Formats: sequence, structure tokens, C-alpha cells
Amino acid sequence: RTVDGNTVFSLEAVTGTSEILPGVATPTWGYNGSILGPTIRARRGDIVRVEVSNRLPEMTTTHWHGMHLPARMDGGPHQPILPGGTWAPEWRIDQQAATLWYHPHPHGVTGKHVYRGLAGLFIVDDDASDSLDLPRDYGVDDIPLIVQDRRFDDDGTLDETDLPDMGLLGDTPVVNGVTDPHFAAMARRVRFRILNGATMRVFNLRFSDGRPFAIVGSDGGLLDTPRTVENACISPGERVEIVVDLAADDKVTLRNVRFADSLEVDDGDAPDFGLDDEFDLLTISGPGAGEDPGALPTELNTTLGALPDTDGARRRSFDMEWFQINGRRMDISRVDEVIDHPGWEVWTVSNKDNWIHNFHVHDTQFRVLSLDRTSTTPLTDGWKDTILLAPGAVATLAVRFTDYTSTRWPYMYHCHMMYHEDQGMMGQFVVV
Ligand code: C2O
Ligand code: CU
Ligand code: CU
Repeated sequence: RTVDGNTVFSLEAVTGTSEILPGVATPTWGYNGSILGPTIRARRGDIVRVEVSNRLPEMTTTHWHGMHLPARMDGGPHQPILPGGTWAPEWRIDQQAATLWYHPHPHGVTGKHVYRGLAGLFIVDDDASDSLDLPRDYGVDDIPLIVQDRRFDDDGTLDETDLPDMGLLGDTPVVNGVTDPHFAAMARRVRFRILNGATMRVFNLRFSDGRPFAIVGSDGGLLDTPRTVENACISPGERVEIVVDLAADDKVTLRNVRFADSLEVDDGDAPDFGLDDEFDLLTISGPGAGEDPGALPTELNTTLGALPDTDGARRRSFDMEWFQINGRRMDISRVDEVIDHPGWEVWTVSNKDNWIHNFHVHDTQFRVLSLDRTSTTPLTDGWKDTILLAPGAVATLAVRFTDYTSTRWPYMYHCHMMYHEDQGMMGQFVVV
């Protein structure tokens, strides 16, 4: 709805029951419904206001993952919404077209809230992306896919026992809140906006026949040019936009496959992240008819440009080890980093553990300058807000914070594998 020229959305976090498994009623949480939430869609330049009310039996927060916005509106642990309460952040959409998402961020229980069902997409549009010849008819040839995993007890309730060292790793794939989904395509070319909304699982996406597909976008929007691949790997919190072409009578399955170039190191003590698991995510049938879609545009995003010049940039390092970043666990009353200039910084993020982590930064999109120990098709192209780090990996990121200063309200950086995040693998920064 529109009020005084501003776009107003309402979200209500509620309890309910969902038919995730066919014929079984599972108690879940959702926004405006029993599981997940509506896709919010706004344009660059819009002023949006989202009225979030909490009808859950406990405190939650709603974070706009990937969004550039004032820290006070960010929806992290500093913006609690008490049961029965409402929170109404307002900000101007000031970034390029992208597939962002929203989810709870209450300190220590983010994994539980997301696992119970709270997550939704937030799609940003702009003129440049609208003018491209890419599928963009939402629900027709532009399809959101929220991929997750869950475990169920015999009676169909969610199994919420944390696995040792793993938290809530599921054994059942769930896509858009259901198991065994099928998509009957209506066109020969389909774009999937895929969000890894799992708490701990990394997905290695591949089609059952190994057909190539194009990656057209990553976390922060479109790539400069499509990348043709056969696999795409996304860790919790990451998004990838892909375009796949179908034959009229196609039958093909989007699957999760094991990591050929494994993200594990040979260490009996490392937790099992399910990296060898293989399962179907979505069966797809062709449209039965329709014209050959032709070649994809070769130029998608002319604003991306070369990597920024970071000569002389301020440097910071973030060592991720044993549920800590730089030897500290999250303390909501401690500010870990103060950013006092609008220029580029180079952040060196090191995974010092024998298992995977990823690294997410609020308020901004960064560019990946380098990543060693690259794994199967890591997503490092374009604007990113979350990056997967194999054991021992070191990434350098070009990051900057150009506005929205505040000494009072911090933003977060953290591992987005939610068990790690909830254990305190998180720090806070202020932009002053
Ligand atoms: Cu998607 Cu700090 O979160
Ligand atoms: Cu975030
Ligand atoms: Cu981690």
C-alpha cells in the first residue's frame, strides 16, 4: 500500500502449521502465513516502510539481509520486537536491482527462528535491469527458490535437537516450504532466484543431466556478463540468480550434488556438514511448446566495472576460529571496529579452522579481490555480501561504508552458518 508516496508493507510473524511433508501438519512460524513470508518488491529510489508485528510467543527481530540502510533500521539484535509489539523501519532503497532477503536476527537464536520458517525474499528493481532481455515475469519465468533443509520427528514436528557441532543440519530438502516440488515451466527460458535459507547446509547446485546454465546475478545484483557453468555453490545466506534453457518436452531435475572438490579437509574431528549428500531439489518439466529463446544478452551490468583501486586503503583482518572472530565472541555491548571514513578498505578474512565458515557483512555489498583455496564454483563475482570460506581459506574483500553514520547503532559482521553465528562468531562495527 502507498501512504504519502511511500510504499508501506506489513509483515506479521505468526505461528501456524504447514504441510511441508505431504499430508502431515508441522507446527511452523512464518510471516503473514504459516511458513516463509511474502516476497517484498521495491524499486531503487523508493522510500519503503515495513510494519513488522510480532505475534510469536517470544522476542524476534527482522533483518534486511544485503540492504544498504541506516543501522537503526537494520533489524539486527539491537532492534528487538517484543511479543505483541510492532517495529516500523523506513528507508530509501539506494542500491542496484538485486535479490535480497529478510530473516530474524535475535541474538543467539537466529538459527531456530529461521529453521521454524521465518524468511522471505526482498527483490529490488531498477530501470537498468528492467530494460534487459532476461526473464522477469515473477512466478511465470522468474521464479524464487528458497532452498533449505529440515529434520522431522515421527509425528511430523520439526526436530530441533542440535546435532553435535552442527546445530540444525537437516536431512530433508525443503524448497519454498515444501518437499518434492515440481515446476511446470511456461517458457523455454527460466530465471531462478535462489536463496540458501538453510541454517548450516551448503548447496552445490547442478542439473540432473549436467546441462550448462548461466549465472546472471549474485548477492548484490547482476554480474557484468553471464557466466556459463554446470555447478553453482551457495552457502547459508547467499543468493544466486541463474538462467536455464529448457526444451519443449524437457524433464530435468535441479539437484544438490556432492562437492567433487571437497570443502572438507581430511580430519576425523571436523564436523560433518553433509557435503557428500546428494538429493533432488526441484523437478522441472518443459512448457510443451514455445520458441527457442536465442542467446542471452552478453552485457548485463555496465556499472559493475573493474575491481576498485585499493592502494593505500585501510586494512583490517578478521580471523575466524573456534566460534570466535579475532579471538572474541559477540558481545552486544562491545564495538569491535570503528569505520571513520568513506573510502575503500581491504578486509582480509581467514578461516583458521579445519571446517567451512562463511562471512557476511551488514549494510554493504563488497567486491572479492582474492580468494585462495577456491572450491567448486565459488561465487565471488559481482557485488557480494556473503562469501564461503573453505578450511584454511583467506579472502580479501574491498569494502566501503559511504554514509549512514551513527555512534549509537552498530552493524554486524559474522559467520552466516547460523549455529556458528548463534554461538557468537560475530562482531559489531559502527560507521562514524
Ligand atoms: Cu542474514 Cu546478520 O544476517
Ligand atoms: Cu545481513
Ligand atoms: Cu562458521
